[in-house]
Formats: sequence, C-alpha cells, structure tokens
Amino acid sequence: MKNSRIVGVGHYVPERVVTNQDLEKLMDTSDEWIVERTGIKERRYFNYEKDTCANMATKATKMALERAEVDVNEIDLIVFATITPDYMFPGSGVLMQRELGLDKKAIAALDIRNACSGFIYGLSIADQFIKTGMYKTVAVVGAEIQSSALEFSDRQRHVSIIFGDGAGAVILQATDESGKGILSTHMHSDGTYAEELYVRDPGSSRKREERLTPEMLEGVNIKAHMNGNLVFKHAVVRFMEVITEALMANGKTKEDIDLLIPHQANLRITNFIQQKLQLDEEKVFSNIQKYGNTTGASIPIALSEAWSEGKIKENDLVCLAAFGSGFTWASALINW
Ligand code: UT7
Repeated sequence: MKNSRIVGVGHYVPERVVTNQDLEKLMDTSDEWIVERTGIKERRYFNYEKDTCANMATKATKMALERAEVDVNEIDLIVFATITPDYMFPGSGVLMQRELGLDKKAIAALDIRNACSGFIYGLSIADQFIKTGMYKTVAVVGAEIQSSALEFSDRQRHVSIIFGDGAGAVILQATDESGKGILSTHMHSDGTYAEELYVRDPGSSRKREERLTPEMLEGVNIKAHMNGNLVFKHAVVRFMEVITEALMANGKTKEDIDLLIPHQANLRITNFIQQKLQLDEEKVFSNIQKYGNTTGASIPIALSEAWSEGKIKENDLVCLAAFGSGFTWASALINW
C-alpha cells in the first residue's frame, strides 16, 4: 500500500491587519483582556472587493505547488475544508478547481465542514484515497472568511475578538517509502455538544416553512454562538487524548515529537497542552498572536509558516491536532 507525503505547503492571508486597539473602538473590550485571555494581538480581515474563500485557497495552493515543484495539472483531487464557503452551494472546492484551471480536466472536488478539525479530517480523507491508489496528487486546503459574519457589539465580543481570515494548503503525493509521510490520522466527534458552538440560522429545518425571515436578521442566531468556557474545558481534554492516541498508535512517545502544531484556538489552550506534555516551548508552534483563530485554515497556515521558518526538516516527527465545533477533534502524526 502507498503512503502519502506532504510535498508542499502554502498559505495566504489578507493584507488588512486589524489590531486589538482597532477592536477597542468598536466594542467594550481591551488589548489587555484579549492578550491575557487569548494571546491574540492582531488578525487579518478580507478585502471584500478582492478576497474570496476560494481565491484565497487558490493562492495558498499555488504557493504549495511552487514550493513542491509540482505542476498544477498533476492534482487529481481537491479537498476543501471550510465553514465559510463562498456560496450555500455548490461548495468552494469546485470554485478553486475552476480558478486553478482544472475545470477542463474535470477532477474531483469535495468540501468538508468540520470547522476547526476540518483540515485534519481533509488530510485523513486524502490519505485514504492515496493509500488505495485511487489518486496520486491531492490538494488539501483550509480557508475561512470569518470577519464578514462577526458582530462588533458587546453581546458578541467574546466571539468577535477571536476569529480571523486566511487560507492554507498542502499538496499530498503518493510515496512507496514505508514509514514516511502520514503515519496515521485519528478523527472523533460528539454531537451532544453541537449547539455549544454553532450558527443556527439560516438552517433548513427549524420547524418553520421559510429558511430565511426578516426577523432572523435582527436576532443573534445568524451569528456564532459559543459557550467559550465549555468549549475550552472540552478542548484541553480532547487535545491531550487525541495527541496521545496518535503517539500510541505508532509506538512513539511525547519525547519523539519534533514539532506539535495545534489548531490555533487560544494561546492558553496551546500553553496548557505544551505544559501538560512537558514539551519545550520551541516544539509547539504558535502564530495565533498574528492571525487569531482562522478555524479550518489555522493548521495549514501554521504548517506553511513553520516550514518556511525552517522549523520542519526531513524526517521530523510532526504532530497536528485540532478541536472545535461539533464537537469534533482529530490528530495526524507525520514523518516529514
Ligand atoms: O476554535 C475552536 C473552538 N473555540 C475555542 O477553542 C475557544 C475556547 N474558549 C475560549 O477561548 C475562551 O472561553 C474565550 C476567549 C472565548 C473567553 O475567555 P474566558 O476566559 O472563557 O472568558 P469568559 O467568557 O468566562 O468571560 C470572562 C469575563 C466576563 O465578564 P464577567 O461576567 O466576569 O464580568 C465576560 O463578559 O470577561 C468578559 N468578556 C470580555 N471582556 C472584555 C468576554 N469577552 C470579552 C472581551 N473583552 N472581548
């Protein structure tokens, strides 16, 4: 059976930098509170005249292809992770396919909506297709435009200060080398908590005939509801579980990890994991300070930056882990 290797990583973030001080002008919050509770100093917001979810993902993918020295025409599957797609339907995967000029080849494109775990879920799906030999080169992307759905008000301040926009991508290819590339992936979910972090409206079946009503636009249900404390408490437990699961599945220990890239949810969550695993600070990657929480895009953006900063080298053991809405959580262990 084939293994899959990440041969290229790339990312794109919009130009507009929004600092905590900028947010102080819009709602009752402070740089001090945001830094202390989340670690975030600034984030990027899209330019609505220029950036779309699909074109940010396309830019990230082009960077990954260039770094991998792989021709775009080699891609035979797109896996697109987002909870902020360009349209209700079709998914953003086909839009990226068109932007990459792969429409004539009619390659497969699929979208997944597993929020913060979406990129690792996507990586796992791509890995299975490569293992079975069905596809040889897969682009896995995570892209989000969160800023256009944020509400800059006191009632939503705990949500609005966290999220940011951006995109990241990897190119996966088949390899015959055993023990190389993605060693294993692990995915979990618990729908008990679906409504603890969600956007309710406009959903398809909330005991009403019409999907979108004028009243909805006034309410808070078109905005993200997040029970921050509860999410936080579950996150720290599930992150630890799913990292340990990945290590055990491969006969590895935490000492073997060269770089841990957790989903950038909150610097306090990342610091908790680092301390609990007793890993040196430089073995745990963080860029939430610059980008905030970019949901499905956070891990591939972090991977791309870590790689370009020389923090990932050949044969390094890299662990990815995520937790988020659903609840869903996932990990991947990679021999780079
Ligand atoms: O991405 C995947 C999933 N998401 C996460 O993993 C997020 C997990 N949760 C969190 O990161 C944190 O729960 C938050 C950053 C969202 C909130 O931090 P917290 O330490 O849990 O704060 P809290 O919600 O318990 O609120 C503490 C206080 C409250 O005031 P009182 O009731 O103590 O007077 C809030 O009203 O902080 C207040 N507060 C704020 N104050 C200034 C909440 N948001 C803000 C704000 N600025 N933006």
